Amino acid sequence: MTDSSSTALQALPAWKALQAHAPKLQAQHLRELFATDPQRGERLALDAVGIYLDYSKNRINDDTLRLLLSLAEATGVRERIDAMFRGERINTTEGRAVLHVALRAPRGAKILFDGADVVPGVHEVLDRMAGFAERVRGGAWLGHGGKRIRHIVNIGIGGSDLGPVMAYEALRHYSQRDLDVRFVSNVDGTDFAEAVQGIDAAETLFIIASKTFTTLETMTNAHSARDWLLSRLGGDASAVAKHFVALSTNAEAVSKFGIATDNMFGFWDWVGGRYSMDSAIGLSTMLAIGPEHFRAMLDGMHQMDEHFRLAPFERNLPVLMGLIGIWNSNFLGAHSVAVLPYEQYLKRFPAYLQQLTMESNGKRVRLDGAPIGVDTGPIYWGEPGTNGQHSFYQLIHQGTRLVPCDFIGFGRSLNPLGDHHDQLMANVFAQGEALAFGKTADELRAEGVAEALVPHKSFEGNRPSNTLLLDELTPAALGKLVALYEHIVFTQGAVWGLNCFDQWGVELGKALAQRIIPELGDANVALKHDSSTNTLIGRYRQLRRG
Ligand code: F6P
Repeated sequence: MTDSSSTALQALPAWKALQAHAPKLQAQHLRELFATDPQRGERLALDAVGIYLDYSKNRINDDTLRLLLSLAEATGVRERIDAMFRGERINTTEGRAVLHVALRAPRGAKILFDGADVVPGVHEVLDRMAGFAERVRGGAWLGHGGKRIRHIVNIGIGGSDLGPVMAYEALRHYSQRDLDVRFVSNVDGTDFAEAVQGIDAAETLFIIASKTFTTLETMTNAHSARDWLLSRLGGDASAVAKHFVALSTNAEAVSKFGIATDNMFGFWDWVGGRYSMDSAIGLSTMLAIGPEHFRAMLDGMHQMDEHFRLAPFERNLPVLMGLIGIWNSNFLGAHSVAVLPYEQYLKRFPAYLQQLTMESNGKRVRLDGAPIGVDTGPIYWGEPGTNGQHSFYQLIHQGTRLVPCDFIGFGRSLNPLGDHHDQLMANVFAQGEALAFGKTADELRAEGVAEALVPHKSFEGNRPSNTLLLDELTPAALGKLVALYEHIVFTQGAVWGLNCFDQWGVELGKALAQRIIPELGDANVALKHDSSTNTLIGRYRQLRRG
C-alpha cells in the first residue's frame, strides 16, 4: 500500500537513504555477504537477557544497520520509549497511558502515572491473586456443594483469551496436573458446549475475563455459563459466589452481572487488552502454574523491559529485530513474518502474536491522522516446527514471495526423549541454512540431476531469517519472549508513527453485527443493507428454520 504523494515518513532523509541503499542489497546474495565476511555469523548476533539472536541471515550489511539506526533516531523511537515508561498518555486516541511494563515491575520499583506510583497497586492485586490461587490449588477453596475445584474455565476473547491460552499451553510442564484448565472464547455455542463437556459443575470455577466486561462474545458465554452452572446445582443463585470470579477494569458491570467485588481481580485502563496476560487476566495461568512460576514469568518480562529501556539501540534485541522487520517489509517488500517455534509447548505463540502485532500495528494513519503512506504491520503467522516443514515451508523455500522467518529454539527439551531434541534442533539450523544459501543449478548438475529437473529442484536462497536460541522454556524465558515481541511492535509502531494501542478497526463489524442480530429471527423486519447482505440474511432466515 502506498499513497501517491510523499508522506512525512517518506520525506525523512533517513527513509530516503534506506530507499537509495535498498537496490544494493537487493542485488547481493546472502551467499556473497557470508563469503566476503567470514565472521558474519558471529558478528551479526547478540546475546542479551538469556536470548541469543542470530540476525546474520538477513539481507543487510553494516550500512543497512547504520541507516536503520538513523531511522530510529529520526523517528524518535528513544523519546517514545521514554514517554511510555514515564506514564505519558501515548495512546492519544483513547487518552490513555500505556504501562504494561508496570505489571512486571518488581516490588519497590516506582512507575508514575498522573503523579502516583502504580507499582504498589499492581502488587496488591498480584498478592490477592496469589492468595486465591493457593486456596484453589491447595483445595481450601470449595465449591457450593463443598467439593474442591478440579476444572477451571476461562471465558474471554482477544487479549482476554489468546495470552492466557498461549501461556497455559507454553507452561503446561509447570502446571498442577490435577487442575484441568479450559478456555472458551468464541460466541459459537460449540466452544462452550465442548469446553464443559463431561465436567462436574460442582467442581468447576468459571473465570470471566474481560477488560471492559461488555464484550458481546464474553458476556453471552458468561450468561450461558451461569445458566449451565445453576441448572446443575439446583438453581441456588448463591452458588455463583463460589464458582465465578471476574477479571476486569469495570467493577460496576461485574457486580451487575452478579459477581461480588471480593471475587473480582482488577486492573487498569493503562493496560491494553493484548498487553494484559501478565495482569489479573493471567489468573488462569497463575492457577495452573502457581504464583511462584507466575512471578518468574513477570521477572523475565521485566528483564526484557529493562534491556529495551536501557540497552543502546545497536545492542537492543527488540529494537534490532523491529528495525530489521521494517527493512524486510518496507525496503525488501515482504508482506508477512513467519514465527516458527521449534517447541511444541509454544504451539499457540503465533496465534497470540497475531493479535499483539496486527491489532497493534495494522493501521494506515499516523498519530496526527495523516496517511503513513508505506506498508505497516506485516501479517504474522506460523506453526511449530517441524510440522510446518511438511506443510507450508515449500512456499517459503521456493515460492515467489519473500517470507522472513523467526526461528525459535531451545538448548534443552523439557521432555528429553532419545535423540528427539537433537533431531528437532538440527531442523532449525537446517531450515535457516537452506533458506539463506539455497541450492544452485550447478550444484544440482554436479550431483547428476537430470536437466529437466534442475529448475524444479533448485533453491534460489537469499531468504531472510532470525534465529532465537534460549536455554530452556522456563516461565522466565516465556516472559522474555513475550516482552521481546511487545517491544518489537512498539519499535515498529514508533518508526511508522502510529498508535500501537488503539483498535478502532474492530468497531465497525461489531456495530453492524448488533444491528443484524434482531433482523435474523424476524422475517418481517425489512432489510436495508446492500443487495448482497440482504440476500445472505434472507438465505440464513430460511436455513435457520431447517
Ligand atoms: O477485539 C477488540 C478487543 O477490544 C481486543 O482489543 C480485546 O483484547 C478484546 O476485544 C476483548 O476485550 P475485553 O477484554 O474488554 O472483553
